[in-house]
Amino acid sequence: MSVHKEIKKVTTHVLQEMKQRGEKISMLTAYDYTMAKIIDSAGIDVILVGDSASNVMAGHETTLPITLDQMIYHASSVIRAIDRALVVVDLPFGAYQGNSKEALYSSIRIMKESGAHAVKLEGGHEIKESIERILTAGIPVMGHLGLTPQSIYKFGTYTVRAKEQDEAERLIEDAKLLEQFGCFALVLEKIPAALATKVAQSISIPVIGIGAGGGVDGQVLVTHDMLGMTHEFSPRFLRRYLNLYESMGNAFKQYIKDVKDKDFPNEKEQY
Ligand code: KIV
Repeated sequence: MSVHKEIKKVTTHVLQEMKQRGEKISMLTAYDYTMAKIIDSAGIDVILVGDSASNVMAGHETTLPITLDQMIYHASSVIRAIDRALVVVDLPFGAYQGNSKEALYSSIRIMKESGAHAVKLEGGHEIKESIERILTAGIPVMGHLGLTPQSIYKFGTYTVRAKEQDEAERLIEDAKLLEQFGCFALVLEKIPAALATKVAQSISIPVIGIGAGGGVDGQVLVTHDMLGMTHEFSPRFLRRYLNLYESMGNAFKQYIKDVKDKDFPNEKEQY
């Protein structure tokens, strides 16, 4: 029998219930109205307005350059499309690190100006004060551990994190702390599957993985990657459901040809 329940609006509470009854949580990124509308209509549980918009939408090499104003712009476009999904917005680099008052201020701006439902922050014990202060304003917080792309210049590479025992132990500690601080869920990015499973079993909040195996409570992918719109990026964890890079390219080529050949517009396509 399916554990899937008809849900009108996904809330943080609904996600916790899903974990309890073993229903996996589906999450995808969106940064604009049209894509968010399609994803929400398909029945996704969570939409992440990720700072991956910095790469996917703006063409930056890292997530660092995107600003709070730009995240708010993306988030409000997404929010206008949503009927069902919970919308979580990344606090961008520089909007929370080392200053809990600024973290609260940035989160309030996101919630007030976009209408989003929750924020996500990268990091563990080092962002305790920020998480606690954001929560005092009643704003739900999602954590993010493992590969945290805002710290890419500290790591130096995008390879799998926490393969060594000491880093794995610190990650488990941080996951437990994030639960204690009051996060409603946690993203684990690019860590060994066995470690991710262990984390998901050691805490009661939902754990959503990307490149963290199937033993966690849900999965997230960057939508443009799973649709095959991006084609340079091919990590092992990525399942491509379409090859839109090729099919969109073919559609554009056909359009160009039709215009050049004076085939478009035809008699029926004009007034
Ligand atoms: O910004 C993003 O898209 C993310 C996901 C990869 C989890 O943080």
